[in-house]
Amino acid sequence: MCHKKSQSNLDFRFMSFFFKIRDFFKSPMKKVDKAEIKSGVFVLDYGCGPGSYSFAAAEIVGPSGKIFAADIHPFAIKKVNRKAMKKGLENIITIETDCKTGLDDNSIDVIICFDVLHNIEDKECILKEFHRILKLNSRLSFDDHHMNENEIIETITAQGLFKLVEKKEKIYNFSKI
Ligand SMILES: C[S@@+](CC[C@H](N)C(=O)[O-])C[C@H]1O[C@@H](n2cnc3c(N)ncnc32)[C@H](O)[C@@H]1O
Repeated sequence: MCHKKSQSNLDFRFMSFFFKIRDFFKSPMKKVDKAEIKSGVFVLDYGCGPGSYSFAAAEIVGPSGKIFAADIHPFAIKKVNRKAMKKGLENIITIETDCKTGLDDNSIDVIICFDVLHNIEDKECILKEFHRILKLNSRLSFDDHHMNENEIIETITAQGLFKLVEKKEKIYNFSKI
C-alpha cells in the first residue's frame, strides 16, 4: 500500500449523491464516448467511485467485453457490485486497490481515469501500472478538472511512458510508448 487512506464513508456517500446529480445533467455516456471504447474490448475504469463511467462503458463493450472497475474505497466496490447484480451484468469485475490491479500485462484496450489522479500522492506507481497492463496502440483516457492542461500533460508524460494522442474537449487520450 503506497497511498493515503480512502475518504471516510460519509464523504463517499456524499460524493455518490453529488455524482447522481452530475450524471443527471451530464450523461456519463457522452464522456465515455470520447475514450473510443468499442464493442468487445477490455476496459479498466480506475478510481471508478460509484461506477457512473463503468456502467456507461459496459453498455458499449457489451457481453463480449469486460469492465474492470477499480477503487480504493470498499463502498465503491460494494456499490458497483450491487448495481451490476441488479442490472444482471456479468461483464463488470471489481478490484479493490490503491495501485496494483492484478491484471495481466498488455491485457487492457482502454483505461479511463476520470477525476482521480489529483488526489493521489504516488502518481508514478499508478502510471507504471497503467503502462504495464495497457496494450500497445491502446488508450489511456484521462480527465481531471482539478488539474490544468499543462499539469495533466506533464504528469502523464513525465516518466516517458505515455504520449498525448488527441484531446477531445476535456478528455485527453494518451497512448503507451
Ligand atoms: C472524485 S472520485 C471520481 C469517481 C469516478 N471516476 C467519477 O468520476 O465518477 C475519485 C475516486 O478515486 C478513488 N481513489 C482515490 N485514491 C485512489 C487510489 N489510490 N486507487 C484507486 N482509487 C482511488 C476514490 O475512492 C474515489 O472513488
